[in-house]
Amino acid sequence: MNKKHLLGLAELSRAEINQYLDTADAMREVLARPIKKTPALRGKSVCTLFFEPSTRTRASFEMAAKTLSADTSSLTVATSSVSKGETLKDTLLTMAAMGAQCFVIRHQSSGAPALAASYSGKFGYDFHVVNAGDGQHEHPTQGLLDLLTIRHHKGRIEGLKVTIIGDLLHSRVARSDIHGLTTMGANLTLCGPQTLLPPEFSEFSCRVTTDCDAAVEGADVVMTLRLQNERMNGAFLPGVREFAALYGINERRLGLAKADAILMHPGPINRGVEISDEVADGSQSVILNQVTNGVAVRMAVLYHLMGEQEL
Ligand code: CP
Repeated sequence: MNKKHLLGLAELSRAEINQYLDTADAMREVLARPIKKTPALRGKSVCTLFFEPSTRTRASFEMAAKTLSADTSSLTVATSSVSKGETLKDTLLTMAAMGAQCFVIRHQSSGAPALAASYSGKFGYDFHVVNAGDGQHEHPTQGLLDLLTIRHHKGRIEGLKVTIIGDLLHSRVARSDIHGLTTMGANLTLCGPQTLLPPEFSEFSCRVTTDCDAAVEGADVVMTLRLQNERMNGAFLPGVREFAALYGINERRLGLAKADAILMHPGPINRGVEISDEVADGSQSVILNQVTNGVAVRMAVLYHLMGEQEL
């Protein structure tokens, strides 16, 4: 694959997405070995730069890099010189000067990873950038792991009825999933309260509705999204209890989907809000499979950007 950075799924073709998913399948085999280690990125250096909190993305990128034998460094913004006013540019160049060859960046501002990528090749340092979630823009590795999870459970993506429910307005996961799923030929339905359904989503080839029961009916895949209270700067909802009643996925509502439908959530989940305990822990939930697939997908991304040696 001839790509230097991964900034979003909007920039990937179906063939490129399939290549990432096929490589992630190979990485799952590596992770199933008794000794989970391959020398593919030996001598390479990966730096995680997280300006927002994370459990899944950060830990899985670190596990992925270590499994590929890369050296890793991890900058915690609160205890770094960013807290003294150092800019993103100067932070990147400082870490690049210490040998970092790939930056995995999570940032509260949409476009920060693209800005970081624009510095590569200038100022004497060349590096890769992976977007680990930027503002309300994209979270491409979450999109890829969601596609991989669907492909595993359903055997295909094309033609499946996929419904995404919840806070679409603030969700970078939704934007990556919309790009990825439409590129792969899924029949997509987006559902949420009108205040959390951006008008521009009607431009995508998908159904947009505020009727949650209708959105779930007959679905092969039901994906719920967290209410992103940290990004809400206004009164988007009458209340969390009303949201849970109208848009929360519970046993009754999931029963409207196909009998073999899978239930997904990118995490972290708010139990009792967008998802009930019984379905989060139920037999149709693949939430922890998504987490497991996250390591394989992030290995595939680092491998294609940095390595492509024998596994
Ligand atoms: N899904 C996701 O990005 O989770 P984290 O915020 O824990 O990384």
